[in-house]
Amino acid sequence: MIGTGRTGDRDTALRLGMDAFLDLQSDPLEDAGQLDVVFDVIGGDILDRSAALVRAGGTLVTIASPPTVRPRDGQAIFFVVEPDRARLADLGRRLRDGRLRPIVGAVRTLAEAPSALAPAQRTRGKTIIRVTEDE
Ligand SMILES: NC(=O)c1ccc[n+]([C@@H]2O[C@H](COP(=O)([O-])OP(=O)(O)OC[C@H]3O[C@@H](n4cnc5c(N)ncnc54)[C@H](OP(=O)(O)O)[C@@H]3O)[C@@H](O)[C@H]2O)c1
Repeated sequence: MIGTGRTGDRDTALRLGMDAFLDLQSDPLEDAGQLDVVFDVIGGDILDRSAALVRAGGTLVTIASPPTVRPRDGQAIFFVVEPDRARLADLGRRLRDGRLRPIVGAVRTLAEAPSALAPAQRTRGKTIIRVTEDE
């Protein structure tokens, strides 16, 4: 499994279990080779160029925007998360038993949510909104 990111993301990607890291700032994306699945969270030019990385019969998945490209001999999927209580509960179990390891950038109160989630507010990692006073 190959992770991608900026130069400073290398250690994090490897710590999270990637077998290799591709630096989008200095390595050609095409160095990734031919892959069964590409999972894109960036969109734009990176998404467009990712189609060529998918081997015959493989899949390009993106969460960024509906793809306008498709692998030559594969499929392209726009994956959209839908709120689902059972799946959220499953994510909670994965968090508790360590199978899911999020990178928490900030913890804010409910009152702080609008400013904490404003587009101009860049936080590295996920922002947690604490909705109760309980620990
Ligand atoms: N389809 C769905 O259901 C769904 C659900 C959630 C989110 N989304 C979408 O998915 C995308 C990602 O969401 P997110 O919450 O993960 O956003 P995020 O927390 O902002 O993460 C995006 C990551 O991609 C990195 N990045 C962006 N452009 C890059 C580039 N050219 N080269 C290297 N790294 C780059 C960013 O790095 P920097 O911080 O250094 O820029 C950041 O680490 C957004 O477009 C969002 O709207 C879709």
